[in-house]
Amino acid sequence: MLPFKTLIQTDKMLKLPVYQQIANRLIGLIQEGLLKPGLFLPGSRVLAIQLELHRKTVIAAYDELVSQDWLVAVPRKGVMVADNLPVIRPRTYQGGISPYGEAAGFSFHQTPALQAPVTKPAGAALVINDGFPDARLAPLTDWVKECRSVIESPRYHKLLMYGGGTGLEALRRQMLVYLSGTRGLNISLPHIMITRGAQMAIYLAAALLIKKDDLVIVGSPNYIFADLCFEQLGARLLRVPVDEEGIDVDMIEQLCSKRKIKMLYLVTHHHHPTTVTLSAARRMKLLAVIRKYKLPVIEDDYDYDFHYSSAPILPLASADHGGNVIYIGSFTKSLGLSIRIGFMIAPSHFIDAAANLRRLMDLRGDNLAEQALANLLQDGTIERHLKKSNKIYKERRDLLCHLLSTRLGNAVRFTVPSGGMAIWLRFSKKYPLKKVAAKAATLGLQISNGDQYSYGAAPQNALRFGFASLNNKEIAAAVSILEKVLK
Ligand SMILES: Cc1ncc(COP(=O)(O)O)c(C=O)c1O
Repeated sequence: MLPFKTLIQTDKMLKLPVYQQIANRLIGLIQEGLLKPGLFLPGSRVLAIQLELHRKTVIAAYDELVSQDWLVAVPRKGVMVADNLPVIRPRTYQGGISPYGEAAGFSFHQTPALQAPVTKPAGAALVINDGFPDARLAPLTDWVKECRSVIESPRYHKLLMYGGGTGLEALRRQMLVYLSGTRGLNISLPHIMITRGAQMAIYLAAALLIKKDDLVIVGSPNYIFADLCFEQLGARLLRVPVDEEGIDVDMIEQLCSKRKIKMLYLVTHHHHPTTVTLSAARRMKLLAVIRKYKLPVIEDDYDYDFHYSSAPILPLASADHGGNVIYIGSFTKSLGLSIRIGFMIAPSHFIDAAANLRRLMDLRGDNLAEQALANLLQDGTIERHLKKSNKIYKERRDLLCHLLSTRLGNAVRFTVPSGGMAIWLRFSKKYPLKKVAAKAATLGLQISNGDQYSYGAAPQNALRFGFASLNNKEIAAAVSILEKVLK
């Protein structure tokens, strides 16, 4: 409740009756915007106690305001500030102060914002995102059931306090099994930390490594939120081209031989944005470079669990890297529910430092979600769901590739990705993406204008066509619109 005692001051020595003084002050508070339309005022008894007045005085003030239509009496609920107020002219009112406008009274660091698509279609629209799962396939019932059973368990009140910066032990234990089964990772508990998504893990790892003006190697193009994160920490980015086999490892070696490189950031499977997977040959070469130069590497394997063509190549983290690879992954896409749980795998001293740093911004993770996820990993729900969604996403990928080649012809180029949730679709120079996006919007299709993929790199004239969240009909509709645009 608002501190009415401070907001409403009355003076019995004034000629104006006290109830009138209260009514006037309440009108003032409504005009200042402090009492918003729809807000219920305290009951007359409560307000009278606060103001140390007789209750009848407050009732008289409320009655006055109801009769003037400033307040509405709602049976059994009390008095509410009216929704359709009589002449409010805040502009002519002198006393109101709004402490929060747009501009701050001080300067501060700003992170570049991503540019939104050029034009958003009006009304309901088909949206091509850059690779999200389909929430419609999510095992909602299982998730709700599991959360409920965690909340109802006698241990729940204790669970609320558990866990420090590294996350819930039950989930970390389940992950030992899961990561060994899916990635051949041979690790133990002190090597795992749960984070709020892969993004938090990227930030924490980078913050422990990077100091101002440190040199960091990234792909060209690269995942923009990694670039922005490293730059915010003061890094200078050295961009190494990414081709059909992944990042150019020879160039990485050359850079390492000439300059002091602080860190290498890699997306080994379904690189963002290009979706290519680092070839086995380059992995072997890279491992040797990492060992030779003791090069710290962030291996971001954000959607390893989505593989369609063949078994995925194991991550660098599973091979002999001399303790130099910080492996990052995520469950944010696994259930299609946007559960913000990711993880970092690293030598235990690094994990301790990351957990200490994490506590400065987030004391502990979401224990309810972490326990529920641990249970779903243990009873096989996650594995079953991944199997089912992989099958559907593979069909969607194949359908999209078929439609793109048969309907869009030479206007676009792409390589079929072995997994993930998007196709890297390059438009021919004849079709500048900004124009394509603007025209698509007029036909009810929202697509990226490509800006976010060109950050710091050469203009790409390409976008990630996220297929996983669209059903067959939606994929066909999106391609038809693109076909019209390109004609
Ligand atoms: C390459 C890459 N890394 C990290 C992330 C962040 O993942 P999360 O949602 O788990 O934070 C994304 C998000 O899509 C991504 O594309």
